[in-house]
Amino acid sequence: APQAIIAPSILASDFGKLAHECSRIIKDEGADWLHIDIMDGHFVPNITIGSPVVTCIRGAVERAEDWSKGVFDCHMMVAEPQKWVGDFQKAGCDLYCFHYEAAMASQAPHTPPAELIKQVHAAGMKVGVAVKPGTEVDVLYPLLDGEGEKPDMVLVMTVEPGFGGQKFNEKCVPKVKALRERYPDLDIEVDGGIKSDYTIEKAAEAGANVIVAGTAVFGAPSPKEVIAQLRAVVEK
Ligand code: DX5
Ligand code: ZN
Repeated sequence: APQAIIAPSILASDFGKLAHECSRIIKDEGADWLHIDIMDGHFVPNITIGSPVVTCIRGAVERAEDWSKGVFDCHMMVAEPQKWVGDFQKAGCDLYCFHYEAAMASQAPHTPPAELIKQVHAAGMKVGVAVKPGTEVDVLYPLLDGEGEKPDMVLVMTVEPGFGGQKFNEKCVPKVKALRERYPDLDIEVDGGIKSDYTIEKAAEAGANVIVAGTAVFGAPSPKEVIAQLRAVVEK
């Protein structure tokens, strides 16, 4: 399986000192990516931050000493993902991960997933496609097998998107397994309720290699220890 990547969700950090939280989680605590949850109050019943804040975080982490890994993993929980590609590219997003369900239902203008993948690549970003717990991964096979441009990552949600701190839904694990069996080299991300307990064991065993954890990392006395534990389970 591909390399282990630990991506703390900054949703669980202290937004009052966001820039500091972001730079220290990479620089001092050993995270690989920053998972940035963008919610618009339409696709999910919650609002978080938009591209202006991402621009500021980008500036802050790049000014931080020894900054070398710049992966901003933006999880777009928005109803019209095609609308924000340019804004997030300018803000410094590296990986634009949209929800399959949102692209399918998009209206202004309607931009189906295959089309949106092309748009994101054309903007110079990597692209992820996310699925909610109720969406089967089979719907992604045409995108991953087809002639067209392919997603660089699939995100299998292990909670209903919208809030941090929810309980890991074990029913989502077989979806990860099915994807891993079919795509040995694909980056497969899991997000929601993951901790250094049975949840990371299940996710890693099924084949996930990109691990999001919010509460488990930012709520711990030593985020560094949790990040190392999560990594060790994926690399086992
Ligand atoms: C939920 C978000 C997650 C969330 C994860 O909608 O997509 O990224 O912040 O937080 P925990 O790890 O606390 O479930
Ligand atoms: Zn997320």
